Formats: sequence, structure tokens, C-alpha cells
Amino acid sequence: MKYKIVTAENTSDFYMEALREIAQTEHFKDTNALLVELSSKSSHITLASLEQFFRSGGIIAFVMHKHHIVAMATLVTITKINGVTGRIEHVVVSPAHRKNNLSRQLMDQLITVAKKKKLRYLDLTTEPKRVAANGLYQSLGFKKRDTNPYRLTL
Ligand SMILES: CC(C)(COP(=O)(O)OP(=O)(O)OC[C@H]1O[C@@H](n2cnc3c(N)ncnc32)[C@H](O)[C@@H]1OP(=O)(O)O)[C@@H](O)C(=O)NCCC(=O)NCCS
Repeated sequence: MKYKIVTAENTSDFYMEALREIAQTEHFKDTNALLVELSSKSSHITLASLEQFFRSGGIIAFVMHKHHIVAMATLVTITKINGVTGRIEHVVVSPAHRKNNLSRQLMDQLITVAKKKKLRYLDLTTEPKRVAANGLYQSLGFKKRDTNPYRLTL
């Protein structure tokens, strides 16, 4: 299968590739369908959320296949009091395209960008039941940390 890996640092990069040939709504359908693979309760991507994401330094790596986005991963930069770090979010490959090395290539791209940006480290979380994801992150050198993740829903 022929895949094209693209890294977008702003909305026009994203559209240049993703929207060149078909309507914008179709690509939001693709990316939102991927998010459902992560959680049925996930908020949808909209043009406004995407623009805000890029404005805050976010980067999306995604895979095009036959004019569709079939995989994605994002890097969020976080400016802390003692430096800038990164967080990997929304790593997902469409079921029909798994085991083609796509997530590894997307992660490699984002790690390269993170190094170029001189981020101090990359964090991510994944549920223990996500066997493939845990295997992927460990094979890339991510180490499990002994910390309790908390969230306050607002
Ligand atoms: C996790 C996921 C992104 C992997 O995508 P993928 O493109 O199929 O993975 P790759 O082909 O790039 O494989 C990369 C590595 O991941 C690990 N991996 C992938 N599938 C695996 C599986 N079924 N079991 C164990 N490890 C697996 C392996 O370490 C693999 O390297 P290897 O092939 O050299 O052994 C994909 O399965 C997915 O989208 N799952 C549902 C969503 C999800 O769990 N996302 C992560 C949320 S944090």
C-alpha cells in the first residue's frame, strides 16, 4: 500500500496536503473517525480547535492513503516554569492499516521535531489494556513512571 507521511505545524500545512483533493469536511470525518478509535466520548476536531492547537505550538503528523487520513499522532508543547516539554497525544492508526509500521514512523517524526525544538522530554500516557500502544512506546524508549494521573473535569 502506498502511504505518504506528512508533518503539519500550521493549518495551511495541514490543508495543503490533506485538503488538496477533497473537501475539508471529508478530512474532518477521517480525523474524527480516528478519534473514535481512542474514545467514543472524545471531543470532535473542528477548524477552530485545529487553529487553536497550531497557534499554541502543536504539531500533527499524519498518514495519507488514497486521499484519506488513515493515521495520526500529535505533539503538544508545554511551557513550564523551568523549560519547555512535550506531550504526545492522539496516536491512532485506522484498523485496516495497522501493522504497517505507520505509528512508528509517525512517532519517529514527532520525536525528531521535539529534538529540533529542544524540548526537555516527552510525556505520554496510555491505558494498560492497550497492548499494541504499550509495546510501541516501550520499543521507542519511553519508560514507565511511578506517578498517579489525576484529572479534574471542568
Ligand atoms: C497502537 C497503534 C497506534 C499501533 O499502530 P501500528 O501502526 O499498527 O503500529 P506499527 O505497525 O507502527 O508497530 C510499531 C510497534 O508497535 C508495537 N505493536 C504494534 N502492534 C502491536 C500488537 N498488536 N501487539 C504488541 N505490540 C504491537 C510493536 O512494538 C511494533 O513494533 P514491531 O512491529 O517492530 O514489533 C494502533 O494499534 C492503534 O491505533 N490502536 C488503537 C488506538 C490506540 O491504542 N492508540 C494509542 C493510544 S495512547
